[in-house]
Amino acid sequence: MKVAVLGLGRVGAVAAACLAEAGHRVLGIDVDPRRVRSLQKGRADFFEPGLDQLLRVVLAAGALSLKRLDEMDRLDAEVTLIAVGTPSLPSGGPDLSSVRAALGWLVERALRPPLVLMKSTLPPGTGQSLRDQYRLRYVANPEFLREGQAVHDWRQPDRIVLGGGDRRDIRLAQQLYANLEAPFVITDIATAEMIKYAANAFLCTKISFINEIANLCDHLGADIDDVVAGIALDPRIGPSFLRAGIGYGGPCFPKDVRALGYLSALNGYSCDLLRATISVNNHQRLLPIQALRQGLGVLSGREIAILGLAFKPDTDDIREGPALEIVRLLLAEGARVRAYDPMVRKGEALPEGAVMAPSAQEALAGAQALVLCTEWEEFSRLDWESIRHTMLPPYLVFDGRNALRPEGLRRLGYHYVGVGRGRGRNEKAAGGHRRDWAWSAGLGRLVE
Ligand code: UDX
Repeated sequence: MKVAVLGLGRVGAVAAACLAEAGHRVLGIDVDPRRVRSLQKGRADFFEPGLDQLLRVVLAAGALSLKRLDEMDRLDAEVTLIAVGTPSLPSGGPDLSSVRAALGWLVERALRPPLVLMKSTLPPGTGQSLRDQYRLRYVANPEFLREGQAVHDWRQPDRIVLGGGDRRDIRLAQQLYANLEAPFVITDIATAEMIKYAANAFLCTKISFINEIANLCDHLGADIDDVVAGIALDPRIGPSFLRAGIGYGGPCFPKDVRALGYLSALNGYSCDLLRATISVNNHQRLLPIQALRQGLGVLSGREIAILGLAFKPDTDDIREGPALEIVRLLLAEGARVRAYDPMVRKGEALPEGAVMAPSAQEALAGAQALVLCTEWEEFSRLDWESIRHTMLPPYLVFDGRNALRPEGLRRLGYHYVGVGRGRGRNEKAAGGHRRDWAWSAGLGRLVE
């Protein structure tokens, strides 16, 4: 099938490469000449495991070609995926300007009215009015890709949601995904859009729920790791998205829960649970500041190290991650901040006044405290014993992702603080050795 993909960001580039891999003839189009040039060399302008290698294969096979928007007079495609950004407006609603620009461009240049598959996240009800306004063949087709696992998630989706369109269009969309083994959820446009928001809002609520319980554990002397071990075995709850810490970030979760809250307010309904989810998440980012004030007193002039800037491991994306907000809060208290992240290398990513260190060791040398913001595997493998001799008292470790081993660090003389790891709890569980859990991002679960 002849397919076009408009917008070659973290969703569009993966979609274009994977559809080409599936045997379609794909034309990827973007407005940014640098991005197009980089992709033509088989190099995405962002980090996504496996994507560059896949790009090189499908480009060499001639299954994928890439063009700048302004190079195109005419577009001949049976299906066009729209995968442009819909960032938050100050009000919390989504900025649809890129979507409108893409649809306007498409209508003008399409040789035949293509089927539009909308990948961009749009509030329920938006797609219908766009379809009518631009008189499109239109199917809402939200994506559920996770950064750092996007190629995997495209190849092995849990489901494929198709909203709207007539039977012919739905059949064409199903042909596009014929190589994938996943159930189709066929519904109307608004419901397909709501599925996307409901999925992200639920995941955010699950994270804020476990963070609320972790905060209670800190006050009541219970231990969140054992709580999670004890509830996750219930198949109705399950083990995923129960990792307590400094909260969720990224380009999707914060934006989508804000948009849903905005939309509900606009329609006269108050989403109390959604508001609570957002408020708990905002609170989690303050935990390190509270812990450092408790351990160090005044933070002005103190040397603080930040480990991890990306909003999660296996990505270089820092958007709306807790780390940057924590850096800003520390700078505002007059602290001196040195940060390190294995993937985020450019100093300009940091707020004015913070320094980017070339390694974890150099960020930690001379620091009185550290805040771990991203659970990169390499941090759990650091030689904490030798690092302790390069730090200064009180050797405070705020483990924002519960990624390190509390007892091991305490034995080395660190003052360890996690999130919900029973600060006040007695060191030994009744009748047995306390287990020393750590979160393995690689394994995606707690490990002893
Ligand atoms: C998310 C959704 O998972 C994906 O389906 C959707 O298409 C886009 O948004 P992504 O933003 O890539 O994907 O990140 P995800 O892996 O979901 O994590 C989001 C944030 O939640 C990260 O900041 C992560 O640190 C945090 N998180 C995740 C927790 O704090 N605890 C958890 O247990 C899981």
